[in-house]
Amino acid sequence: MMMDSTHTLHGLESTVPTEPQTAARPSAAAPPQPQREVWLDGAFVPAGEAAVSVFDHGVLYGDGVFEGIRSYNGRIFKLATHLKRLYDSAKSIRLDIPYSADELGDAVRQLVQRNGTLDGYIRLVVTRGAGSLGLNPFSSPNPVVFIIADTIKLYPQEMYDHGMHIITAATVANHPASLSPRVKSLNYLKNVLAKIEAIDAGAPEAIMLNAQGFVAECTSDNLFIVAPYHDKTSLLTPPLHASILEGVTRNVVIQLAHEVDLPVVQTDLTRHDLYVADEMFLTGTAAEVIAVTQVDGRKIGTGEPGPVTRRLIAAFRQLVADQAPED
Ligand SMILES: Cc1ncc(COP(=O)(O)O)c(C=O)c1O
Repeated sequence: MMMDSTHTLHGLESTVPTEPQTAARPSAAAPPQPQREVWLDGAFVPAGEAAVSVFDHGVLYGDGVFEGIRSYNGRIFKLATHLKRLYDSAKSIRLDIPYSADELGDAVRQLVQRNGTLDGYIRLVVTRGAGSLGLNPFSSPNPVVFIIADTIKLYPQEMYDHGMHIITAATVANHPASLSPRVKSLNYLKNVLAKIEAIDAGAPEAIMLNAQGFVAECTSDNLFIVAPYHDKTSLLTPPLHASILEGVTRNVVIQLAHEVDLPVVQTDLTRHDLYVADEMFLTGTAAEVIAVTQVDGRKIGTGEPGPVTRRLIAAFRQLVADQAPED
């Protein structure tokens, strides 16, 4: 039997077979895995046979957009919101996606069922397509769309239980007048560079500041602190203009906070605000919700995940376990 190879996907541990799998012998412990497939331009193909051209501008220039989506018990969490962001990102870079949102949504659902990754992670990618070697995006008239349905575990359980120790990177977030951080583009090099800084420092994540020196976000997560605001315990998070991706999980957590009457303030934050916060946590599709208990060597709050963070983590877990709404 051909074993799955472990590799990294957007810096995340992932298991996708690099070659088509031969039939596995069923065992009592592990049900037989259906052969992993990828959806590529309208067809389900074995993952090991799915390929894009070396002339694809997604490969040559990072010219394309993508989404990372989670499935919980076969339900595609916030699918419509992810698809909206995908089409918004594509519009922003003048990329016409050659499928409707309904068609892509159906493809995602079918792929998850066929691969049996009911609790998994989906990567939906649109590249500019194969063209000439110049930058001109309109020389590549046929965008390529592919979908991977896999599983993911971003950080060790120990960090989910006790929080992460992270650093601030020297690499700055994109200026919104350049490539808008609201566009989830295939060009993640600044995030990769910040991630390298984290790895060099022995940290699992890095905070990026924006061009004004305010806190933006982490390499693949949005950031929240818990702090008093006008004397009331509140959730504070950088606003959309602070060079952040408008995270789907960020918006879910803001909604959960509203439901328990916890004030949410979207405001510019400095590193000092983080250092003196009562609590801090990150949100992202792959990471879900995870506490941060140290930043740049400063203990946050008690140094353990705080009560507000724990409450929001529990509310998030309950939401995805009970309903995982697709809207
Ligand atoms: C740069 C960046 N910020 C924030 C997020 C979190 O966004 P979401 O909750 O939509 O996954 C991600 C992950 O997609 C990301 O790559």
